Amino acid sequence: MMKRGRELRLLGLGLLLLLLVMGLAVGSGDLEEAIIGTDAAGNLVINSSRVPGGGRVLVDGVDVQALQTACADLLQAQAELLAAQARLEARLRRVPLYEPQIYVVGGLNGNMSEQVYMFNGTRWWSTAALPTPRFSLAAAVLNDGLYVLGGLYYMGMDGSAPITTAAVEVLDGLVWRPVPPLPQARGRLSAVTFQNALYVIGGMMGTDRPTAVFRFDGSTWTEAAPLSFPRLDAAAVVFQDEIYLIGGRNGSVLAVTEIFNGTAWRPGPSTQVARYALTAVVFENSIYALGGHSGPNGVGVLALVEVLVGQTWQTRTPLNTARYFLAAAVLGDGLYVMGGRNQVDLASVERFNGTAWQAAPPMPSPRNGFAAVVY
Ligand SMILES: *[C@@H]1O[C@H](CO)[C@@H](O)[C@H](O)[C@H]1NC(C)=O
Ligand SMILES: *[C@@H]1O[C@H](CO)[C@@H](O)[C@H](O)[C@H]1NC(C)=O
Ligand SMILES: *[C@@H]1O[C@H](CO)[C@@H](O)[C@H](O)[C@H]1NC(C)=O
Ligand SMILES: *[C@@H]1O[C@H](CO)[C@@H](O)[C@H](O)[C@H]1NC(C)=O
Ligand SMILES: *[C@@H]1O[C@H](CO)[C@@H](O)[C@H](O)[C@H]1NC(C)=O
Ligand SMILES: *[C@@H]1O[C@H](CO)[C@@H](O)[C@H](O)[C@H]1NC(C)=O
Repeated sequence: MMKRGRELRLLGLGLLLLLLVMGLAVGSGDLEEAIIGTDAAGNLVINSSRVPGGGRVLVDGVDVQALQTACADLLQAQAELLAAQARLEARLRRVPLYEPQIYVVGGLNGNMSEQVYMFNGTRWWSTAALPTPRFSLAAAVLNDGLYVLGGLYYMGMDGSAPITTAAVEVLDGLVWRPVPPLPQARGRLSAVTFQNALYVIGGMMGTDRPTAVFRFDGSTWTEAAPLSFPRLDAAAVVFQDEIYLIGGRNGSVLAVTEIFNGTAWRPGPSTQVARYALTAVVFENSIYALGGHSGPNGVGVLALVEVLVGQTWQTRTPLNTARYFLAAAVLGDGLYVMGGRNQVDLASVERFNGTAWQAAPPMPSPRNGFAAVVY
C-alpha cells in the first residue's frame, strides 16, 4: 500500500518535471510569480513555503511539498535497500566485507529451542530460527552453508522421553532448507568438517549406541570407518588434518581419545580426567578440552581445561564457571566458552585470551545441549 503510494507520487514528480521542462505555466492566478521563479543559475525554483495557509503548491492536483518529502523517504528507503543488498551479497559470496561470527543453534532452555543467535565478540543478535526445535544436536560449516545435524526433540508435554531425529538442515546465509537426512537418526552426536566433507560421529538413537561414522560430501551420505566402541556426548575436533574424538560416555564416563586420519581410527592420549558433555576447539594451534561432567563417581560438573601438548594432556587455567553441555568457538584472537548447565542453565560467556578467562557479553537466553560454530 505504502510502496504503491510512493510509486504514484514518484510518477507525479515525473509529470511535474515534464510540465516544467515543457515550459507550461503553473496554473492559477492565486500564485504569485515569486513562488515559481528562477535561481541565479537559471533553474526553475518552486518555493512552496511562500504559499499562505499551510504552504501547499498543487500542480495539476499534485502536492509539490508532499512529493519532495516522499522523494526524500524514497531515497532513504532506496539507500537502506542497497545497504541490505550489499550485506546479503557479502554473506552469500563470502566477500571480505562479510565478517564471520559465532552462531549458536538450538539447545535446551526449559524446553527445546529453535533459536539461532549470532555473536561478533561484542554483541548478540537473533537470526533465522531453526525449522525444527531440537537439542543435543551438532553443527558444522561446509562450503558456504551452516549445517545442523540430528539431535533430540520432544513430541508433546507429557514428559515422555525425547525422540531422535535424522534431520539435516542448511543455512545458506539467509534461509534454512532441508538437505538429505542422516542415514540413521542420531542425538548426542559429534560433527566436524574434515577433508571437505561433514563427518557425523558417535551418538545414540533410542537405546541403540551406533558406531557407524557417516560422511556427507555436500550431496550424498556414505559410511566411513566405524568407531571401535560406542561414544556419545563426546567432543570432536580437527587438528593437523586428523579428527580427534575426546571423552564422552558409553555406559562408563570416558577419558579415551581416538584419532581418525581419513582411513582408520587409532587410539590417542587419554585425558587426565574422564568426562562427557565437554567441548573441544583448536586455539593457538593446540586442542583445548573444556568443561564437562565427570559422572556420579567424580567431582561432577567441571571447570577443567586440558590442552594436548605433544602426546600429553596438560591442565590450564580453569573456567571461571564449571559447566557441562556447553559449547565453545574461536573468533579472532579469543576462545569463547558459552552457556551449558551447572544446577541451572547458563547464559554466561567467558573469553580466554591465552592467559586468563574473562566475562564476555552473555547469550540472550540460557541454554545447554546446543551447538556453536563460526560461520
Ligand atoms: C522561500 O520563501 C520564504 C518566505 O518568503 C523565504 O524566507 C525563503 O528564503 C524562500 N526560499 C527560497 C529558496 O527562495
Ligand atoms: C559488533 O557489532 C557491533 C554493532 O554493529 C559493533 O559496534 C562492534 O564493534 C562489533 N564488534 C566487533 C568485535 O566487531
Ligand atoms: C515444548 O515446545 C513444544 C513445541 O514448541 C510444545 O509443543 C510443547 O508443549 C512444549 N513443552 C512444554 C513442557 O512446554
Ligand atoms: C566403553 O569404552 C571403554 C573404553 O574404551 C571400553 O573398554 C568398553 O568396552 C566400552 N563399553 C561398551 C559398553 O562399549
Ligand atoms: C591411516 O592409518 C592407517 C592405520 O594406522 C594406515 O594404514 C593408513 O596408511 C593411514 N592413512 C593415512 C592417509 O595416513
Ligand atoms: C589476557 O587478559 C589478562 C587479564 O586481563 C591480561 O592480564 C593479559 O595481559 C592478557 N593476555 C594477553 C595475551 O592479551
